[in-house]
Amino acid sequence: MDGHEELYNDLECVLLTREEIAAKVQELGKQITRDYAGKKPVLVCILKGAAVFFADLIREISLPLTLDFMAISSYGSATKTSGVVRILKDLDNDILGKDVIVVEDIVDSGITLSYLTKILMQRGAKSLRIAALLDKPARRKVQDLTVDYSCFNIPDAFVVGYGLDFNQTYRNLPDIGILSPRIYE
Ligand code: IMP
Ligand code: MG
Repeated sequence: MDGHEELYNDLECVLLTREEIAAKVQELGKQITRDYAGKKPVLVCILKGAAVFFADLIREISLPLTLDFMAISSYGSATKTSGVVRILKDLDNDILGKDVIVVEDIVDSGITLSYLTKILMQRGAKSLRIAALLDKPARRKVQDLTVDYSCFNIPDAFVVGYGLDFNQTYRNLPDIGILSPRIYE
C-alpha cells in the first residue's frame, strides 16, 4: 500500500488489485486488437474517471488507433446519477464514418452511456462499441444499452481508485477498493 495509507484507511476493503486489473486490461487489449484487425478505431476516453484505464488499455492494443477525449457530467448526488447529462468538453475531431470505441470507467445505471451513445451515433459513427472497466449489472436502469467489453462485473457497492473517485478524491489509488460508507453517509 506504498505511501497511500491515508487513502487506503478510508476503504472497507480492496476489491481488485493492480495485478488483477493489469491482467484483465491486457486481455481486453488483445481482444480489441483481434476484433478491429485492419481497422483504425478512434478510442474515446470519458474524463476523468476513465483516464487511468484508458492510458493502460491503449498501450495493450496493437492497431493504428487514434485518441479523443470527452467530459460529461451527470447531475445528481456524489454517489447516484440523476439521468440528466451535460457535455463539458466535446470531442476535438469528427467521428463521421469512424469505428468508435467509448472507454468508460464504470457502468452503473447505464443512463450516462445510453445518452452518450445516442449522441455519437447521430454524428454518423460507422460503428460504436463500449469498453468499460467495471460493470454493476444489478443497478442497470436502461434496457437499450449493450456493454460490449467489460473487465469486471462487480457487486452493488461504491468503489474508488484506478481513476474512480468520490468527490474527486482517490483517483490515484493503484488498486480498486470499496469505500467505507462512513465516508459518504
Ligand atoms: P451511470 O449513468 O449511472 O451508469 O453512471 C456512471 C458514472 O457514475 C460513472 O462514469 C462514474 O463516474 C459514476 N459512478 C457510478 N458508480 C460509481 C462507483 O462505484 N464509484 C465511482 N463512480 C461511480
Ligand atoms: Mg465517470
